[in-house]
Amino acid sequence: MKIINYLKEILKKRFNRENFLAYIKIFGCQQNEADAEKICGFLKFLGFNFTDDILVADLILFETCAVRHTAEEKILAHIGNLKNIKKANNNIFIAICGCMVEQENIRNYIQEKFGFIDLICGAKIIENFPELFYEKLTGKKLNNFCNIHVSQVLQKNKFKAWVPIISGCNNFCSYCIVPYVRGPEKSKDYNQILDYCKKIIKNGSKIITLLGQNVNSYFYNNFNFSDLLKEIDNINGEFAIRFMTSHPKDFNKNLVDTLASLKHFSNHLHLPVQSGNNKILKFMNRKYTREEYIEKINYAREKIKNLVITSDIIVGFPGETNLEFEDTVSLIKKIQFASIFNFIYSPRVGTAAFNMQDNISHDEKVRRISKIIKIQEKISQEFLSGFVGTNLKVVIEENFANKSIARSKSNLIIELEEKFNVGDIISVKIISSKRNSLIGKKI
Ligand code: SAH
Ligand code: SF4
Ligand code: F3S
Repeated sequence: MKIINYLKEILKKRFNRENFLAYIKIFGCQQNEADAEKICGFLKFLGFNFTDDILVADLILFETCAVRHTAEEKILAHIGNLKNIKKANNNIFIAICGCMVEQENIRNYIQEKFGFIDLICGAKIIENFPELFYEKLTGKKLNNFCNIHVSQVLQKNKFKAWVPIISGCNNFCSYCIVPYVRGPEKSKDYNQILDYCKKIIKNGSKIITLLGQNVNSYFYNNFNFSDLLKEIDNINGEFAIRFMTSHPKDFNKNLVDTLASLKHFSNHLHLPVQSGNNKILKFMNRKYTREEYIEKINYAREKIKNLVITSDIIVGFPGETNLEFEDTVSLIKKIQFASIFNFIYSPRVGTAAFNMQDNISHDEKVRRISKIIKIQEKISQEFLSGFVGTNLKVVIEENFANKSIARSKSNLIIELEEKFNVGDIISVKIISSKRNSLIGKKI
């Protein structure tokens, strides 16, 4: 506690006020959201509140992503824009965290080009953020600082909880930077996860999302992912269990049978297929075939009624011919996903695919992604229109003017023309459908 009080004194002097404001910007995936919630818990502990207005912040923190070049370019532009803010007030503290700054070349580039940054803390060492923060602010080294775990995770949304169960990735899909910036897989303590779930469910969390690059690899003291799911399902309370991401190679019948037996499963599966062509899947090092993927989906749909399945697609992987791309198109038509995230392949330094011959023009990649977007739009619309006339149980997520935005257990977005309390669970009748959402009325 002494050290925390000392740190607070330093902050008061530096920012010249009693209460401090932090501006947090998160890029990338849910892992970053979860990391940011831990850091926010620590900052709250130190007396920070949070603002959406960067111009009034004492501390500015970015959680960065490295998955595609476009993401990095965007983040670097945002970092460049901080220069004037720092020029106007040198006391403002700027921290750049997350996956992008795990890369040495980017770290060097940032240090050279943006010397005004106070702290760089990569994704692998995010647990050390408090120590690094202390050291930068006080100029002193620290041995036994209270670690980030003494402070609570600060959930952005009280009823929506991210629960990291496994960090890192061992899969090394040939295009992907994540195993390099997040390190090898490491499963978290089984009992700690359960205790944490019990606590947040008791405190009102309604949607529990178990996080990992491949949750199926979870393994701790002989407990696997199915064991964990069953145990969480036994907790008393009204909540839904989600998880992401599940790698299709490990998504097997046992897991489907477990999911079918759960009371709290959200009925939403995010199962990124990436490509519908076996040669490309092999070059991607995905370790499943198109046929295996289809079989797994069929089994899951047979066992679990009203399953909502979403996916990720990469177009323009090195060497992908038009015919191979058409296999992806036909797979999308065959599976009829509820929605997909589409990406143009982005070469990442250090990955296996970086050295593969990339001879597809940018225009052709854009043509391919546009084609998929158009086809999926139609499929998504048809999928959503199928809900008109049905009843759904939803949780209220946000309020706008005279509207509420809610989400179904299976992750569909429902707009309501009335205002309800955030976190309420209500039953609605679906009266119409739009492009990406449904319109509902309370019953
Ligand atoms: N662990 C998850 C995915 C994490 S990255 C999984 O295995 O599914 C999220 C998505 O980004 C991936 O599914 C992939 O579609 C996309 N992606 C990853 N690396 C990419 C790259 N180099 N270029 C384009 N898209 C990429
Ligand atoms: Fe990347 Fe593949 Fe790991 Fe997903 S499973 S994070 S795509 S390497
Ligand atoms: Fe990006 Fe890191 Fe997630 S690279 S997608 S934020 S794991």
